[in-house]
Amino acid sequence: MTNADRYSQIYGSEAQAYDHLVTHEDYQGNLWRALEGLAEWKGSTVVEFGAGTGRLTRLFADRAAHVVACDASPEMLRVARQHLRRELYPHVEFTVAEHRDVPVYASADIAIAGWALGHYIHFSAGNWRECADQAVERMLSSVRAGGVVMIIETLGTGRREPEAPSAELAELYQRFESLHGFQRLEIRTDYRFASHADAVDSVRFFFGETLAESVRAAESAVVPECTGIWHRRRAGHRA
Ligand SMILES: C[S@@+](CC[C@H](N)C(=O)[O-])C[C@H]1O[C@@H](n2cnc3c(N)ncnc32)[C@H](O)[C@@H]1O
Repeated sequence: MTNADRYSQIYGSEAQAYDHLVTHEDYQGNLWRALEGLAEWKGSTVVEFGAGTGRLTRLFADRAAHVVACDASPEMLRVARQHLRRELYPHVEFTVAEHRDVPVYASADIAIAGWALGHYIHFSAGNWRECADQAVERMLSSVRAGGVVMIIETLGTGRREPEAPSAELAELYQRFESLHGFQRLEIRTDYRFASHADAVDSVRFFFGETLAESVRAAESAVVPECTGIWHRRRAGHRA
């Protein structure tokens, strides 16, 4: 099974198991602390690309005034809707959309994508650079002048020191910085599971047998992880 097949299967029909995995991620709360420092969330309009089951959406939904959470997978958004029920979150709307077709709300304050753009390397292997560049442009055109764009991607699950897990991801991150003008912030987003057995099973489900084996050997319910947040403001006078 190729990586593209595996991820298609997970996002198409195993969204609940994916959600179990990510609700154990970043047990130290470093992600929100970092995001909070990069933009003014209170009262903001946010467009999210690749929202999945709404793990990030849940971090900012209480602060934002309006959220448009997009994803190509209706199944992932179905689970997100269960977390962010309409009665409690009437200001959060969900839209099935490929990144490059996300409706452009040129007046958003923030555009954010978590662990979603890097998948072009799997799903569009022949032209991932072009696709990723177009998705970044879409994010930039979604925000007003002075609005903030944030792209979160992996710098290694199972790692204590940040490093892009593949040559393709290293190149993608280089493009974010040198071609699109983003700055990189590095944080730890370690997982903590209820038990060592759950850590092994959850890691195997998403990351495969090799990483699951090293988690088993570590005999811990904590799995280290490094994450990058690429961020920039759209040019313009309003900050
Ligand atoms: C690793 S998950 C991340 C989900 C969520 N942002 C999170 O932090 O848990 C990747 C998500 O990106 C979505 N995705 C991947 N490629 C996409 C594309 N080209 N357009 C829209 N969504 C995409 C998948 O359906 C999946 O929900």
